[in-house]
Amino acid sequence: MSVPKTRWLTFLIFLFELPVVKSVTCPEPKKFGRAPPSECRQPMDPNLKPKTYLERWFTKEMFDEFFPKANQGWGLHECKPYSYESFILAARYFPEFGAGIRSGQPPYTARDLQRRDVAAFFAHVLAETGENDYRIYNSGISLKAADECFYRGGLYHYFEGGPKSKLFSTLRHGFAVKEAETCVEEGRYCASNPELDFWYPCDQPNIATKTNSTTYTGCYFGRGPLQLSWNYNYGQFQQYLHSENIDVDLLANPNLLITKMDPPLGFLSALWFYMSAQPPKPSMHDVMMGTWHSSEKNKRAECKGEDSEVPGGPGENRRIKAFRFFCEKLGVPVGLEHTLSCKGMIDGFDAIQQNLSWQPDWANMWKAEPCDCAPAPYPGTLPYFDPKLYREQAAKENDRNRLRCVFSIYRNPDIFRIDSKNSPCLNHTVKIRLSRYGPE
Ligand SMILES: *[C@@H]1O[C@H](CO)[C@@H](O)[C@H](O)[C@H]1NC(C)=O
Ligand SMILES: *[C@@H]1O[C@H](CO)[C@@H](O)[C@H](O)[C@H]1NC(C)=O
Ligand SMILES: *[C@@H]1O[C@H](CO)[C@@H](O)[C@H](O)[C@H]1NC(C)=O
Repeated sequence: MSVPKTRWLTFLIFLFELPVVKSVTCPEPKKFGRAPPSECRQPMDPNLKPKTYLERWFTKEMFDEFFPKANQGWGLHECKPYSYESFILAARYFPEFGAGIRSGQPPYTARDLQRRDVAAFFAHVLAETGENDYRIYNSGISLKAADECFYRGGLYHYFEGGPKSKLFSTLRHGFAVKEAETCVEEGRYCASNPELDFWYPCDQPNIATKTNSTTYTGCYFGRGPLQLSWNYNYGQFQQYLHSENIDVDLLANPNLLITKMDPPLGFLSALWFYMSAQPPKPSMHDVMMGTWHSSEKNKRAECKGEDSEVPGGPGENRRIKAFRFFCEKLGVPVGLEHTLSCKGMIDGFDAIQQNLSWQPDWANMWKAEPCDCAPAPYPGTLPYFDPKLYREQAAKENDRNRLRCVFSIYRNPDIFRIDSKNSPCLNHTVKIRLSRYGPE
């Protein structure tokens, strides 16, 4: 008896696309904060970006299966920061995500690439926001069942340190999202130098008299699905949003990362971080697509790799195990074992000779021409994306960052310790259009 080939193919694809069947009863997660309201404002996209390829294969049922403990234990809900709807709206800003358009990266098919991309993103999400309930492994259920519960614990946390974060300044926890608006010193995550202070100034502290301790409003601790942290990451994300016509003062109100739903900034920040290179680090997406070409030398990086015990520790181990989990659920190969840990990495990211940031063009500062900026081989606040190494951001972002750099020379030459005596280029002015987020 012969079955037509095409029918088999359809059948197989159908099998893979079936939502994952939950057969395990997991321990109830602890619930913090309020239950989702019955009526609320839905996440929306002011830019009305078109649907992406991701939506053709990645369904709400799949998302709900993967994240039953989202939103501090209450489960997925449109009114809460973490939901399928928010995820999909945010992904419309990055149509290449989960789309695997570049096939021809053997041994992976385009379908493999699409799913591996999403599996990698979720693996990081699990490591950053997982419930991490180790008791699951001692609750008497089988190891396989415990894994099913453990790796479905992602998107549980909003904030670094969880609902009872020690970084909050409030002493009595009401488990309200508002509490994350202020923090103690350790929660500031404020990096400072003249260039950073110019571009990404941290919000200034308030003095709280009642507690007799300093309470800060510029709190750039981890928030959202990938726990965006530090003023320079919040600031760069804010600049990215501006380039998409979304003006939000995240440096003054970093908690908007979790509360703003138009567009949903939590998922948008996470996808932005996943899709963006930060030289010399390529984007995680490019690594998954095989479009990052590392150099030939073989240097073993300092990486911990995967633990042999279950579930093992946080960090790289958690990400690798979670990646295996999501790849299995999505029916795609995890790939070669040695590529899972950075132990097997051919070369450190910093081993590739490249220019990393925009700096004053020192070769021209003495000339009777306006000051300019040029790529330089050391890191700085305004990244330079070598077009040979970074595909997407290079063109647009380099133009913007060069202008930003020139703007900062004229606005605040002290940053670079220059004046019109040592740098006569300052005597020749330039016109750069400005917004409060920097040059256009
Ligand atoms: C308040 O803080 C100041 C300065 O750190 C300290 O000298 C003072 O003892 C504190 N007062 C109380 C009541 O804790
Ligand atoms: C870095 O940029 C300078 C110009 O500022 C250029 O001359 C040099 O070739 C670049 N180096 C690399 C490794 O691309
Ligand atoms: C630039 O202007 C300053 C005064 O603003 C002056 O002292 C200096 O000589 C000028 N430099 C040149 C090269 O013209």
